[in-house]
Amino acid sequence: MAATPGDSFDSSLYPRALFSLYLICPLTVLPLQLLQAPYGKHSRNGWGPSLSPPLVWFLMESPTLWLTLILLPQGRHFHNPQTLALLSPFLFHYLHRTCIFPLRLLHRQKTVISGQKSPGFPFIIALMAFVFNLFNTYLQARWVSHYSDYGPNWCIGLRFNGGLLVFITGLVINIWADSKLIALKGEGGGYKIPRGGLFEVISCPNYFGEALEWLGWAILTWSWAGLGFFLYTMANLGPRARAHHDWYLKKFADDYPKSRKAMIPFVY
Ligand SMILES: NC(=O)c1ccc[n+]([C@@H]2O[C@H](COP(=O)([O-])OP(=O)(O)OC[C@H]3O[C@@H](n4cnc5c(N)ncnc54)[C@H](OP(=O)(O)O)[C@@H]3O)[C@@H](O)[C@H]2O)c1
Repeated sequence: MAATPGDSFDSSLYPRALFSLYLICPLTVLPLQLLQAPYGKHSRNGWGPSLSPPLVWFLMESPTLWLTLILLPQGRHFHNPQTLALLSPFLFHYLHRTCIFPLRLLHRQKTVISGQKSPGFPFIIALMAFVFNLFNTYLQARWVSHYSDYGPNWCIGLRFNGGLLVFITGLVINIWADSKLIALKGEGGGYKIPRGGLFEVISCPNYFGEALEWLGWAILTWSWAGLGFFLYTMANLGPRARAHHDWYLKKFADDYPKSRKAMIPFVY
């Protein structure tokens, strides 16, 4: 197939975008030491208009699905069955995050007994997440469907299957922990101390699971794009997990188990 001007634009855009992903890791982790994104437990006034969380999660995460599906047929590996196998973990995670997770939040909103509803999600934060998802989906989907050069046996190899195992472990932990938290709030009465399973050793098993997923993704794609996304996830969720942990220690000063860590069992 002959190269088009669009191809040459893309081939100069892609490495720049990839470099930017690594640049935004420190630009994310440093401000988050001082200031948390103002949603959920860390909601505060002064961040402009806000929207209902289920709608926000659906809208801001949606590029991960539709942009992947737009980019996939443009890639030179579109007809290689390994491409879909490689993209499946990414698509599965985001199918859950974009469609199932918001539906569960919506269901909880409708059934919550006596506790407060979740605070609104600031539009400006949702917009930033939407833009990040556009950017990151371009990097991940374009890598797998176009720029990568996996051999014909990649999907039966150690890196793909080892990474997939790490990814699935993270996915199960993430969904389990989010479900537990959503159910806890659904009982009414506001925030409570989560108990059981990994909650006994860390405050945020959902973030730990999410980080494991993207570590698995970095391994199974064996790519700078995958590694950059894992590092970004740590840069974003590490400080938030610390802030959640400190929030629990302050709110439940007498009862919160002091032995729990924030995000990584026995470490952090
Ligand atoms: N890849 C990334 O960079 C990234 C970034 C952000 C989020 N995420 C993922 O998105 C998902 C949601 O993130 P999040 O920041 O909203 O997580 P979160 O703060 O742990 O909250 C998850 C849900 O549980 C509720 N909840 C949390 N703690 C609770 C408690 N102690 N008692 C009762 N209810 C509680 C929250 O209600 P409220 O909303 O009312 O607090 C929310 O609906 C997670 O799986 C996370 O890994 C990924």
